[in-house]
Amino acid sequence: MRFVRELTSWLSGAGEPGSFPYSAVLAEFHRVGKHFVEKEVLALLDQARAQLTVPAAARDPHARLLDEFLDGALDKWDGRYDYRSYLALRLLRLPCGDNVDGPVGARRDQDRLLVRLVADALAFELTAASGATDLLPERRPSPDVVAKRYRLGVRAASPALVRMGVAGTVLDREAVATPDELRALAVDSDPTGELVLRLSMLPVHVSHDEYLFIRVLQSYECLFAGIADELRATIAALTAGHAGPAVERLAYARGQLTAAGPLFSLLATMQPEAFRTFREYTEGASAIQSRSYKLMESLCRTPEGSRLDSAAYHQVPEVRGLVHAGQPSIDNAFRAAVRDGLLTAPGGERVEEEMRSFAAAVLQWRRTHHRLATRMLGPRPGTGYTEGTPYLATVRSIPVFTSVAGEPRSPSSTEPTGGSPE
Ligand code: HEM
Repeated sequence: MRFVRELTSWLSGAGEPGSFPYSAVLAEFHRVGKHFVEKEVLALLDQARAQLTVPAAARDPHARLLDEFLDGALDKWDGRYDYRSYLALRLLRLPCGDNVDGPVGARRDQDRLLVRLVADALAFELTAASGATDLLPERRPSPDVVAKRYRLGVRAASPALVRMGVAGTVLDREAVATPDELRALAVDSDPTGELVLRLSMLPVHVSHDEYLFIRVLQSYECLFAGIADELRATIAALTAGHAGPAVERLAYARGQLTAAGPLFSLLATMQPEAFRTFREYTEGASAIQSRSYKLMESLCRTPEGSRLDSAAYHQVPEVRGLVHAGQPSIDNAFRAAVRDGLLTAPGGERVEEEMRSFAAAVLQWRRTHHRLATRMLGPRPGTGYTEGTPYLATVRSIPVFTSVAGEPRSPSSTEPTGGSPE
């Protein structure tokens, strides 16, 4: 086996992280799916990890990359497989607020990552449709479905492409961009960026649609992380009594969530049978473990005790800890600013209006998510050990804020539509 030869020779040599045989390892994982990689193979990777010392991994970027890759590759072997390791979130290093270029830099990084994830998903669709790859060969979609995915993917990435000034590459023409053109989008000056993208794709099975599933979830994670940054900035602005910046940051966050709508439609093109096949092996990895989502929720409003003590927050102990430690929220900051006379009309009214609009966008997201889950999952339980869609039906109407009157209410029931949840 090529993989075993290359890895054994790497292990018996200097074991330099920069020369790790990534391609061979990836090829082996992709050939069978992460769930089915043989124990002997995983044992060799475990040996490779043992050679990496933690301080070295922290200092040397090659060692850090290898450490983060092995974190995802060995999650099932270690018995700590979860949502974060499934999506390789450590590797992707989601954009965060402490960007050296401030909020502009953070937004730019977020746009770039989103575009790369979506463009890579579309490039895979086109490459597979042309027969040029045998990666994840089970249940290839029909040409119609591929065309639909392309359209929806381009729509989801369009606002970011426009902000990046590269929209013309794919938007201003009739023809479909080639996979190479798509992959070239948002390439940055960091040559490891491409490798990171490749390494962040470790499906558990060999179903074609799992590629799309992983990239869409990663895209949402990227968006939630960026939204959490905007919400923190909104809180800071409200605390200082600056209505204008508060409205700007919250409106940007809303725009991000709304513009991402086509991502759900994209995922709705997944073949339910394909989904049900690979989810057999994703047990234990669920977006109920998404820290960014719970950060987003708790930065809007401190969750009630019952929610904080439910699986929803027990599955994200870091966020639960932040809330217990008194993490501020927009709801409280807004109330305090009004009480202390920091927000006067018309600024206060504009904040209030934007809070209502943001809440509407979140409630819309939850409704669409519930519809999609109902369609794909039916009555089956979730991989995060809830009863499945009944859980989602309960949580979808939790108020986003309580300090503003007239927050839109979620309808009490949404039937499975069988259609595209746009
Ligand atoms: C086939 C598509 C999907 C299905 C069938 C699905 C299903 C579910 C289910 C059943 C739950 C409840 C927890 C559990 O037991 O697992 C859940 C929670 C959740 N899902 Fe999804 N989901 C899908 C797509 C997505 C996507 C694309 C995202 C975006 C990141 C997402 C984000 C979430 C979040 C944040 C929660 C936690 C909600 C909360 O605790 O309030 N889901 N999902």
